[in-house]
Amino acid sequence: MRQIRIFDTTLRDGEQSPGCSMNMKEKIDMARQLETLGVHVIEAGVASASQADFNAVRAVAKELRKAQVTSMSRALAKDIDATWEALRHARYPRIHLLIPTSDILLEHRLKKSREEVLEQTAEMVRYAKKLCEDVEFSAEDATRSDPAYLAKVCEVAIAAGATVINIPDSIGYAMPEEYGNLFRFLRGSVKGAEHIPFSTHCHNDLGLAVANSLSAILAGASEVQCTINGIGERAGNTALEEIVMNLKTRADYYGADTAIDATQIYKTSRLLTAITGVKVQPNKAIVGENAFAQEGENQQHGVSGKSVYEIMRPEMVGLTNNKMVLGKHSGRHAFNDRVKELGYSVNLDLSNTLFKRFKDLADKKKSVSDRDIEALVRSILAQEIPKSYMLERYVINSGNTITPTSSIALTGVDGARVEKVAIGFGPVDASFNAINKIVGRAVKLEEYSIGAVTEGRDAQGEVSVKISSEGATAKGYGLSTDVIEASILAYINAINNLIYEKTRIEQ
Ligand code: KIV
Ligand code: ZN
Repeated sequence: MRQIRIFDTTLRDGEQSPGCSMNMKEKIDMARQLETLGVHVIEAGVASASQADFNAVRAVAKELRKAQVTSMSRALAKDIDATWEALRHARYPRIHLLIPTSDILLEHRLKKSREEVLEQTAEMVRYAKKLCEDVEFSAEDATRSDPAYLAKVCEVAIAAGATVINIPDSIGYAMPEEYGNLFRFLRGSVKGAEHIPFSTHCHNDLGLAVANSLSAILAGASEVQCTINGIGERAGNTALEEIVMNLKTRADYYGADTAIDATQIYKTSRLLTAITGVKVQPNKAIVGENAFAQEGENQQHGVSGKSVYEIMRPEMVGLTNNKMVLGKHSGRHAFNDRVKELGYSVNLDLSNTLFKRFKDLADKKKSVSDRDIEALVRSILAQEIPKSYMLERYVINSGNTITPTSSIALTGVDGARVEKVAIGFGPVDASFNAINKIVGRAVKLEEYSIGAVTEGRDAQGEVSVKISSEGATAKGYGLSTDVIEASILAYINAINNLIYEKTRIEQ
């Protein structure tokens, strides 16, 4: 079996999709899980883009012990310096250098000639190589570049010391056969290509990102850049879980595998959803809610028991079949076991808080499902930051013939209690206005989403918000069987995150 390396760019390219930005703590949590998943390289961000990005890349670099950590950099000395400064703490660092190679980008973005780009490539790969042994070179917009020129750029990069060559389909334009042929051409004609791995990076604008990446694997590519749940700019990137399961399910066809522990796929997907609040479409392959729902087919064809239509088993991606339902009589032991089976390891403090929240919920709700437990874990993890403000109480007065009014009382870190009243378009808006008055800063609500964790009228409501204030943004998460309370908790959580991030950057 050929071994295909998985390069995960969820924290860099993936983060660029709307609503998917992550703060430092979220990036670290995600990076840890990606390492457990068995990803070979983790792209933690663009260290040279801002102080916050730099801090996040450096934190991930310091954290991981098994996976390689990389950061993308333009082919400019000052960007490479900043990138290396963030990466140098990594056990296995890699600099990811990028330069466009298509005429259209050379003319409109770089305003450089082909010759100048060749020189810059040689010079900057050499520069990066002096700092870091492992240098990946990406030819941006490779699929719209003149193949002969692209081959020349790759050759120059290899001669200057590049250790991996990446051929991105940056705008999702290529067709599978065409993309595969490009790899065949480059691997057959570029001097030095036989000694180093070639990598794919595909975008999903025409829905072909996975097909294109697989076609490149057949043509000799041995690294795939991808993201969890296929998140990414516009229509997204190649979905990691789809690549892994295609190779596993059709090993007979590809003769290739990855080092990914597939049983961690579902948990990783759920963690990303939990962190970003961006849900996976129900019919998404491998990780969508309906991906393994076979009942319809079975019934239609009169088949009972295990399906004859099954090409993968849900357990293979970590989706446990025994969706155990807990209730108010379930003990701590059964609850802790279930939390563990769902893949979470929580320390004693958190486990006590979690069990108390579970008991409170079981008093309100007939049965507590896996989804409820995951949401509880998420809400507790979201609260794991220093709390500048905590909710003490809220009182809402609303209706269709009166102006919605909310009175909110918060306590600060010093224990001081402040209560304010505000009106708004509805009870949620009124509550956010009252909180703004307490914190005394202009906070803008950028995004708000609400959903039910499970079906049923007693379901918990989960709310995700994104706020901005003085140029900084932060997200918050709230969970309650009362959706107004969930909204208030999410908003306070976002404000605490905002304050926390600001103090970290200033330190
Ligand atoms: O899409 C793209 O070209 C990229 C590269 C930087 C790899 O994301
Ligand atoms: Zn990309």
